[in-house]
Amino acid sequence: MTTTGPLTSRGERPFGVYVHVPFCSVRCGYCDFNTYTADELGEGATRASYADTAISEIELAARTYSQEIETVFFGGGTPTQLPSADLVRLLDALRDNFGLAADVEVTTEANPDSVTPESLAILREGGFNRISFGVQSAVPHVLATLDRTHNPDNVPQAVKWAREAGFDQLSVDLIYGTPGESMADWRTSVEQAIALEPNHVSAYALIVEQGTAFARKVNRHEVVMPDDDETADKYLLADELFSAAGLGWYELSNWARDEAAQCRHNVLYWHSDNWLGIGPGAHSHVNGERWWNVKHPAAYAQRLAAGEAPRHDGETIDADTARVERIMLETRLRSGLGLDALSTGATAAVPGLVSRGLADVADERLVLTLPGRLLADAVVRELVD
Ligand SMILES: C[S@@+](CC[C@H](N)C(=O)[O-])C[C@H]1O[C@@H](n2cnc3c(N)ncnc32)[C@H](O)[C@@H]1O
Ligand code: SF4
Repeated sequence: MTTTGPLTSRGERPFGVYVHVPFCSVRCGYCDFNTYTADELGEGATRASYADTAISEIELAARTYSQEIETVFFGGGTPTQLPSADLVRLLDALRDNFGLAADVEVTTEANPDSVTPESLAILREGGFNRISFGVQSAVPHVLATLDRTHNPDNVPQAVKWAREAGFDQLSVDLIYGTPGESMADWRTSVEQAIALEPNHVSAYALIVEQGTAFARKVNRHEVVMPDDDETADKYLLADELFSAAGLGWYELSNWARDEAAQCRHNVLYWHSDNWLGIGPGAHSHVNGERWWNVKHPAAYAQRLAAGEAPRHDGETIDADTARVERIMLETRLRSGLGLDALSTGATAAVPGLVSRGLADVADERLVLTLPGRLLADAVVRELVD
């Protein structure tokens, strides 16, 4: 491993790179990610020039930071809206400027209707070895409420193509708690996800993000969000079916076939390790410093065209903030939270959590029980006091 540069000056933490691709064909009404349809993009940035712009950021960043990369995650937006050759050029730039570990994990997110056998083969040959499909639901009326564009019948085909291209690390993203989704609908989505035989699944409760078209519908009472009990029942059903299918939880919203199938890139976030974020609005976190890039692709392109870093703002994370963040993130992990993170007051709260059946303690680590996972936010509030 290379040992020059500020990244390594405070010890050897795993190092990952996130590459943001801020393009989508349609904006899903519920999503407030930093992403743009062709109509929304405006002047000053194009999809065609995006890879070159982001490569110039990679080259600039490599002048300051130097460490071999252990995980790469292309997210969005929809990375697969770019030609695969552009994604491979970006990965090549990371390899040339930083170096990739021999066992590097390279993930791309993908929408099922934005891949072809050819595009997937180019990615796999170019070094991508993990793919995460945004499936969300197998039920047409739920997909329609979410404004998802794909036909659910095409999902098995996209997964088959990915396997044929050589992606055996394959994940499926689901959302539960969409208005109008019955328990039977959710069961169908979970069962169909399992039938795809992924080695990893994520299932997130739908969040109402203020400012989105979906939030306006909720605020106007055109759609009604499910209550907490129904959402909890859906979580329990998912956990039961995933577990029975050999997918074990390793983070509250993530299940994997075995340890090797866990998303190492996300584990790196949850352990507050080091990562660089490339792209408009991308966040970085290196040795106690956090910063983020200008948000709009045009402002981002303008900075880089002038040879300037696209950083917008940043902060130093003080010890207490780092401790609170560690509690918030590690409590969600099956590996649990080291009790050394807790203040004296919070340590005193632990026996109460155990007696109420919300957590277990073993080897100086606190691990949520199943009832505790349903109340994780409340448990975390007791632990950060
Ligand atoms: C931002 S998307 C990027 C990947 C790809 N475009 C897709 O939609 O799958 C990553 C994940 O975030 C989820 N997501 C976005 N907004 C959300 C929200 N308001 N609540 C829950 N999940 C959300 C998406 O459904 C998707 O599974
Ligand atoms: S959920 Fe994915 S496809 Fe939908 S707008 Fe957000 S990033 Fe784009």
